[in-house]
Amino acid sequence: MPSSQTAAAAGRRSLAGFTLRVLLFILTPLAVAVFLAAQIGDIDPAPFPRGLDSPESLVAEEEHPAVLGGASERLGDGLLPGPEDLVYDEKEGFLYTGCRDGWIRRFRPTAAPLDVVVEDWFHVGGRPLGVARSPDGTIVVAEAYQGMLRLNKDGSVSLLADEAEGVKFKLTDGVDISSDGLIYFTDASHKYHLDAYPLDILEGRPNGRLVSFDSSNNQTTVLARDLYFPNGVSLSPDQWSLIFCETPLRRCRRYHIQGEKKGQIENFVDNLPGYPDNIHYDGDGHYSIAISGRRSKFWDLVMKHPLLRKYLIVIVKLVGLPPLSRAGVLSVSLEGRPKALYSDRDLSHISSGLKVGRHLYMGSLTEGHVLRLDLSKFPLDA
Ligand SMILES: *[C@@H]1O[C@H](CO)[C@@H](O)[C@H](O)[C@H]1NC(C)=O
Repeated sequence: MPSSQTAAAAGRRSLAGFTLRVLLFILTPLAVAVFLAAQIGDIDPAPFPRGLDSPESLVAEEEHPAVLGGASERLGDGLLPGPEDLVYDEKEGFLYTGCRDGWIRRFRPTAAPLDVVVEDWFHVGGRPLGVARSPDGTIVVAEAYQGMLRLNKDGSVSLLADEAEGVKFKLTDGVDISSDGLIYFTDASHKYHLDAYPLDILEGRPNGRLVSFDSSNNQTTVLARDLYFPNGVSLSPDQWSLIFCETPLRRCRRYHIQGEKKGQIENFVDNLPGYPDNIHYDGDGHYSIAISGRRSKFWDLVMKHPLLRKYLIVIVKLVGLPPLSRAGVLSVSLEGRPKALYSDRDLSHISSGLKVGRHLYMGSLTEGHVLRLDLSKFPLDA
C-alpha cells in the first residue's frame, strides 16, 4: 500500500479516536449525573428542625464502655437472627423476640447459656419489630410491613391495624400496651418501608406517627403526627404518659395521655449520646433506652447538611448504611436523667434493652443472639 494512503487511514483512525475521547469526555459525566439523579430520585433532604450539634452529649452517671468483657453472655447464639425487640412474660417465664426471618421466638432467659432452648413459636412473616404483652396474655407484634398483629392463643394471627386516617402504615415499629389493654405504637414512616429506612433518616422529614389501637371497638387513633422516625415507645409506670424516641434527633419525648397536659408533647431526654431505638420501663424506676450506635463526627456532619445526606443516598443505595458503632443501653430515671450507660466498642445496632431481675437483656437488629448482662457485676463505683 502506498504510504500516503496509510497516512490517510491513520489520520482517519486518530480522528475517530479523538471523536470517541471527546464523546466519552462529555458522556461520562453526563452518565454519572443521570445515574446519580436516578438514585436520588425525588428525595429532597431537609434540614433537621433544631441544632443537633451541641458538642457534648449527655453523660450518664455511670459509664460502662466495655460490657462485652466477661460480664456478658450470649443467649440462643445462632438461633436468634436479629432479635429486635424483647418482652418478658413473668407468668409464663418466657422472653419473646421477633427475628429477621419472620419468626417470633421465645425462650426461658434465666437458664445458663448452653441450656437455653429457643422455640420457634409463631411465624408472622415480614420483619417483626416491636413486641408487647396484653393484659390477657396474648402477644402483640409491630410487624414492619403488615402492621399491628395479635398472636391468638388458638395459633392464628389477626391483623389489628394497617392504616390510620386513611394513610397506610409503612413501618410499624415500637409497641407498648396499657394495663387496660390499649395498644400504643409507632409508624416510623408512612413513606418508606423498612428495607429503605435509611432514606427516611437521610431525607430528614417528619414522616412518622404515634398511634393507639383500642381492641374494644377496633378504633385506630393518631395521637401525634409529623414525628422524626418515631421508634420505641413505653408507657410510664403510672400510665399517664408515653415516652417515645425519635431516632435521628437523638431524643425521646413525652406524650401526655391524661391529666392537665393531656394530648401535649414535652421533651423527656434530649441530646442522647447516640441514636435511640426501643425503650422499655425496667419495673424499677428507670427506662432502658437502646442506643443503636453512638453519634460521631461523620454522622454529626451528615445530619447537619442536607446536601451531604442527598449524596449519601447514592452510597446507601449502593453499599448500605455506614455502620454504627459503640451501641448499648442507656438507663434513665423517670425524669429523664441519664443514670448508666452499658455499651461496647464492638456492639452495633443494639435495638432493645430489657431488665428482668438483676439482668439486662439486649436485643439487636443484626446480631444472632440476645446478650445478657449481670448488672450485679457492674458496681456503682466502677
Ligand atoms: C374487630 O375486628 C375483628 C376482626 O378484625 C372482629 O372480629 C371484631 O368483631 C371487631 N370488633 C368490634 C367491636 O367491632
